[in-house]
Amino acid sequence: MKGILITFEGIDGSGKSTIVSEVARRISEEERSPFAGRSFLFTAEPTEGEEGRLIREKLKRGTQTAEGWGSERSEAEKLEELFLFMADHARHLAETVIPALEEGMVVISDRYSDSRVAYQGATLKGVVPQPLEWVRDLHRPWSVVPERTILFSIDPALAVQRCRSREEGAPSMMPKPSEKFEREELLREVAANFEAVARREPERFIVIDAARSKSEILEETTTALAEILYETKAKM
Ligand code: ADP
Ligand code: TYD
Repeated sequence: MKGILITFEGIDGSGKSTIVSEVARRISEEERSPFAGRSFLFTAEPTEGEEGRLIREKLKRGTQTAEGWGSERSEAEKLEELFLFMADHARHLAETVIPALEEGMVVISDRYSDSRVAYQGATLKGVVPQPLEWVRDLHRPWSVVPERTILFSIDPALAVQRCRSREEGAPSMMPKPSEKFEREELLREVAANFEAVARREPERFIVIDAARSKSEILEETTTALAEILYETKAKM
């Protein structure tokens, strides 16, 4: 495929979406190389498609905790969660990512397969042996591996604090104190899973310290993207 796939990953509240939308704005205004002359497609998982909508509905109904969609979920429901995200990924790949890559576009996805490895790798602990490897291997035969992945690394306590301030506009969706605790516990496991994947594939991952100011993170991210595009130019 002629294009290039770059993904952004990190726990909830790491600030990915904020930076991805700033990057999109910058790129649309950037007239100089390396952004000029390249077509970009910004996309995300969960998607806005049928499966993505179902996932969001379920997420709204129960805060996702280490136990699955809500507390005390069965093994079946934890597996259902994984396969819904997988179905969403399959459609995302077939209808959005692969066609754009075939056209030679730079595809930037806010979350992708590593979210499944990190999140469902945590929720499926005790359900299947070695869940991280198992979820990763489920993607292997048919998915497209990103050229580079930018991981936003942050302390889960700070990320939870950021999520709380984001939710201030929608108090009815605020989690109860016990849910907040469970959520931080899950995010700790998810963050550790992301770090483990990044350590395993250092040539793919760029780890960004996401505890800093938005402007510092934006600067580092833009520079990293420019470098990736420069490095891959020769290949295209
Ligand atoms: P994510 O997409 O990773 O879940 P968001 O981009 O939605 O995270 O950010 C979560 C909240 O934190 C938002 O309210 C956002 O305005 C705020 N935020 C994002 N980046 C920073 C930052 N660098 N410093 C402080 N607050 C931030
Ligand atoms: P998202 O809308 O990206 O959340 P945020 O903007 O807070 O980062 O994703 C919704 C939730 O779904 C988030 O908690 C991460 C989780 N998720 C998984 O558990 N597995 C997956 O494969 C994906 C793509 C997301």
